[in-house]
Amino acid sequence: MHSTRTEPVTLLAIESSCDETSCAISRDGVILANIIAGQAVHEQYGGVVPELASRAHMQNIVPVVDAALKKAGVALSELSGIAFTQSPGLIGSLLVGSQFAKSLAQALEIPLIAVHHMQAHVLANLIGPAAGTPNLQQPTTPSFPFLCLTVSGGHTQIVLCHSPLKMEVIGETLDDAAGEAFDKSAKLLGLPYPGGPLIDKYAREGDPARFAFPEPQIPGLNFSFSGLKTAILYFLQDQTAKDPGFVTANLPDICASVQGRIVSILLNKYRRAARETGVTDLCVAGGVSANSGLRKAFQEMGRKEGWNTFIPAFEYCTDNAAMIAITGHYKFLAGEFAPLSASASARAEW
Ligand code: KG4
Ligand code: ZN
Repeated sequence: MHSTRTEPVTLLAIESSCDETSCAISRDGVILANIIAGQAVHEQYGGVVPELASRAHMQNIVPVVDAALKKAGVALSELSGIAFTQSPGLIGSLLVGSQFAKSLAQALEIPLIAVHHMQAHVLANLIGPAAGTPNLQQPTTPSFPFLCLTVSGGHTQIVLCHSPLKMEVIGETLDDAAGEAFDKSAKLLGLPYPGGPLIDKYAREGDPARFAFPEPQIPGLNFSFSGLKTAILYFLQDQTAKDPGFVTANLPDICASVQGRIVSILLNKYRRAARETGVTDLCVAGGVSANSGLRKAFQEMGRKEGWNTFIPAFEYCTDNAAMIAITGHYKFLAGEFAPLSASASARAEW
C-alpha cells in the first residue's frame, strides 16, 4: 500500500466487454462521472452481434471518454492512471477498450490497470449511493468478509470476498447464466432482446403462483438454468397447441411465474451459502440485480434471516465503467499495474 501518498488518485476507466461503451472518472474512489452508451443495433437480431458491437465501440469510445472528462471537470493532465476491462467478454469489444486504454496510458506516461469484469461487478457494491442520494442512517456499503451473488448475462456466481482484491468463487452456474435464462425465456415468449427487463415489467402485473416451473436439484452451491428453459419451451408448445392466443392472453402471469422461479433458484442457493459460511453482509451485483422481483425477495430474505443486504445503485448494476474505476482504485493503491503489452482476453478465469 502507498500509505504515504498525498496527491489524489484520479483514474479514467473504460468498460467495453459487451454492448455498452462506458467511461468513468474517479477521484480517491469517489465516482465523478459515469457515462454509458448503449447499442440499439442488436435489438433486431435477438442478441448481441459481436462484429457490430466492436464497430459501435469504435464509434462511441472517443465521444464517451470526452463526455466523462467534461462531466467530471477533469483534465487529462490530472489523471494518475488508466483502468480498463481486460476480461472476460467479446474479444473484439474488449480489444477496442484495451487498445484505447493502452494508447492513452502510453501517451500520458501513467500506469495502466487491468481489471476483471466480474470482480468489478462485485466491487460495484463499494461505490456507495449514487451522487445526490441523501445521507442514510444505515451503512450503505458492506463490511468484509461479504458475499456477493453476481448475476449477469454471461455469469452467475456466488463470491466470498475477504478484501477488495481477494475473492473466491464458491458457487456458479453449470450451464446458462441467470440473465440468459431471462433472455431465452423472453425469446420463447416472442419478446425482443434483451428480454430480462421486459419480463420484469410484465411480471409486475402477473401472478407468480399461476404456473409452476420446476426447480433443478443441483448439489452444493452451483446453479443450473438449462432445464428451466426446456420446461418453458415444452409448456408453451403444449399450451399454444390448445390455444394459439395463450401467450398473449397470459403474458403477465407467465412472466411472473418464470421470474419467480429464476429468483427462487438464485435465492435458495444464496441462503444456503450464507448459512454455510456464516457471513452476514450479502450483496447482489450484475445486470440481473436490476430485476425488481429479485431485489424485493433478496431484501425480504435479509430481513427474515437478520442479514444486511446491499444492492448497487441502478446505474452500477448493469455494465458500467464506474465499477472498473473502483476496482482500478484498489489495484492502484496496491501497486497492481499492467504492462503495456497486457492483452485483452475473452476467458473468464480470475
Ligand atoms: O451485467 P450485464 O449488464 O451484462 C453482462 O455482463 O452480461 O447484464 C445483462 C443481463 C441481460 O441478460 C439482461 O436481460 C439482464 O441483465 N437484465 C435483467 C434486468 N435488467 C437487465 N434481467 C431481469 N430483469 C431486469 N430488470
Ligand atoms: Zn457485466
